[in-house]
Amino acid sequence: MSTRTNTAVVGLGIGMAHVAGYLSSPDANLVAVADAWPERRERVGGTFDQGSMLNLRPLLDDELLSKRWEELEIRVYDDVTAVAEDPEIELVSLCTPDDTHESYGVMLLEAGKHLLLEKPVALSVAAAGRLTAAARANDRRISVGYEMRVNPAVLKIRELMGAGVVGEVRAFSLYQYRPPFRRDKWEKWIQAKKRSGGLLVEETCHWFDLARFLTGREIVQVHCVGSDRIHADFDYEDIAFVQGVFTDGSVFQIGHALTGFDYSLIVQVHGDRGAIWSGFKADPRSLLDGGQTGYMGIVSWGPVNAIQGEGSFVTFGDEAREGENIRDNVAHTVKSLRDGTPFVAEFDDGLRSLQIALAARHSLESGELVDLK
Ligand SMILES: NC(=O)c1ccc[n+]([C@@H]2O[C@H](COP(=O)([O-])OP(=O)(O)OC[C@H]3O[C@@H](n4cnc5c(N)ncnc54)[C@H](O)[C@@H]3O)[C@@H](O)[C@H]2O)c1
Repeated sequence: MSTRTNTAVVGLGIGMAHVAGYLSSPDANLVAVADAWPERRERVGGTFDQGSMLNLRPLLDDELLSKRWEELEIRVYDDVTAVAEDPEIELVSLCTPDDTHESYGVMLLEAGKHLLLEKPVALSVAAAGRLTAAARANDRRISVGYEMRVNPAVLKIRELMGAGVVGEVRAFSLYQYRPPFRRDKWEKWIQAKKRSGGLLVEETCHWFDLARFLTGREIVQVHCVGSDRIHADFDYEDIAFVQGVFTDGSVFQIGHALTGFDYSLIVQVHGDRGAIWSGFKADPRSLLDGGQTGYMGIVSWGPVNAIQGEGSFVTFGDEAREGENIRDNVAHTVKSLRDGTPFVAEFDDGLRSLQIALAARHSLESGELVDLK
């Protein structure tokens, strides 16, 4: 390896947070980007006025956004194939639609590139197996885009759990309430279950991963109900309620709604000595609390049988934003690859959360309780 790892980003939607990660990492050299969308190839800030991109604005300053990629000495390709064929590139962030992860990922691994693969890792267990096989055959590594694992508020929850604040964990719950997925994606891929896997595979996979990450336990049984009667132009569930059991018999519940007018993510850990409550917003000023607070994330905790007001809290600012977390996971991936240390999320984490999501989807479709043991 050269002094810096030569990297590339394929897909410049959320991939722009990966660009920010490589540009800010002392270990990386961003040598190329690729996108099929001409506007995104033209300038760094190609589609930054688009709704999907607005929350990434704080990551890249206006001067940088106004530049052409070539001015930064970054090569621009119109297809992933050119990245695979570029011998200089060692690590690729693959940020293309979900249904392309398998074929593009296998192509890049076979061309000798390491991957930072956006979630979900694939749309089926068989497809994920082909990615594992290609990585193994070519001695390459795959890091997964589960950036909540570097979110400082999440790490605070983990630290409190590790310090015994809640005692033995008996239950975990998580509720995400948010507006629908943006309708400005490439070829509207996210609106088709065939291309995105539906809500459970496309996004609830994040929350299954968080449940595993925080509790350190495996989910072994799931049941899911949902409804698909609100967004007619998305051919899958608008809202899903999943509940189930971890290996040790402790329980979880996850509610995920694309039916909101604002964003909130609530995470609760219920232990035999205490509990943790945490809330995240998409913006410091939120309609959901009447604009009364200015933080991005809050973690509060208290003992079992608390009397009112007993407990503590800590708040988090921009460092708890999605874009910043993706940027930090990118930098961590480059460093881990160079040092030979574990990634924040390994491919097996991506596979496990995909299996849970597929089990939940099967439960939603069949009404069955699904065993994952
Ligand atoms: N980790 C996270 O929190 C997070 C957040 C958002 C999206 N994602 C994931 O990132 C991926 C991309 O999502 P998005 O929201 O940026 O979608 P998007 O539609 O905005 O961007 C996808 C891009 O891929 C490009 N593309 C498609 N085929 C290509 C090809 N053959 N060669 C080069 N470029 C090609 C498209 O032109 C498009 O610009 C998805 O897998 C999604 O699930 C992850």
